[in-house]
Amino acid sequence: MENIAKNIEKDLDEVRSLEDLERVRITYLGRKSFLSENLRLLGKMTPEERKEQGPKLQAIKEHITRTLDEKKYALEQTSFDWKKDALDISLPGKKSPIGHFHPITQTIREIEDIFISMGFDIADGPEIENEFYNFDALNFPKNHPARDMQDAYWLSEKNEKGEKLLPRTHTSSVQVRYMQENTPPFRIIIPGKIFRHEPTDASHEHTFHQFEALVVGDDVNVAHFKYIAQEFFSSFFDTAIEIRLRPSFFPFTEPSFEFDISCAVCEGKGCSVCKRTGWIEVGGAGMVNQEVFVLAGYKENFYRGFAWGFGVERLAMMKYKIDDIRLFHSGDLRFIRQF
Ligand code: PHE
Repeated sequence: MENIAKNIEKDLDEVRSLEDLERVRITYLGRKSFLSENLRLLGKMTPEERKEQGPKLQAIKEHITRTLDEKKYALEQTSFDWKKDALDISLPGKKSPIGHFHPITQTIREIEDIFISMGFDIADGPEIENEFYNFDALNFPKNHPARDMQDAYWLSEKNEKGEKLLPRTHTSSVQVRYMQENTPPFRIIIPGKIFRHEPTDASHEHTFHQFEALVVGDDVNVAHFKYIAQEFFSSFFDTAIEIRLRPSFFPFTEPSFEFDISCAVCEGKGCSVCKRTGWIEVGGAGMVNQEVFVLAGYKENFYRGFAWGFGVERLAMMKYKIDDIRLFHSGDLRFIRQF
């Protein structure tokens, strides 16, 4: 055993690299080393023998370990190559790219923040919807053209209840879902993805986003709607926005409106974005039709509410001056990185 100490000194003299050192370590401390074999023998000794031999072996082990550590430290010091290993702090740094949310996600979050500050809740519903919530519950007649293959994609498979399914054509599909679960008064917005069977061009997409608003209570009227919309748009565009309602028709609202805002790009003076009219159409709105309340299980003429559905892409396009809606789904990083 005493020889071990001498031998290791000799072996270490020949060590030139960390690999050499590892080989020496295995010879002296490895499973098959003389030391390990003797340590294993301890188990078969009488308690008296063990008392004598144990501390000796332990001391040798510590000696070997310390010697190897010292050699390792010495090797590391001499193998440090200043040219190769030193850090040149005068070199320009490498920037790691940091990802971020898609502009549509960012816009939806901005919209949500404004509505949360006005006391609204955020609601949600499925993107694949049944015919009932997308159409019937919203008072669409059975033969309404919006149900047509030209306007909606239909899935070839029905659900387990035999209902026809479609990717929802508007976020209004969540209205009755929410009303079945909640009792007024409430105010919610429903941001989400929707799908339309239509050809695409610079201002049309087959897949885009809307955010629905639904406010229901005892005494809700068009003035509330106009005020909340005006507050929202002025906050979103960070400038005073005017609102204009034009009569329209939706089966689920009565009366119904098309909803325009003063052009945030030219402040109503007229520009290419608003086609020189000073106004931009952002969506549909109206007072909730009592039929819809009844279909949701509420008593007729008991509550009043308003609803709207506005396009998210359209708002993002105005805010960030984007002239082609197809850019959002293009996956083009040159576009995405600008946000
Ligand atoms: N769902 C309608 C659309 O997509 C918009 C709308 C929502 C109209 C709520 C009135 C009330 O065109």
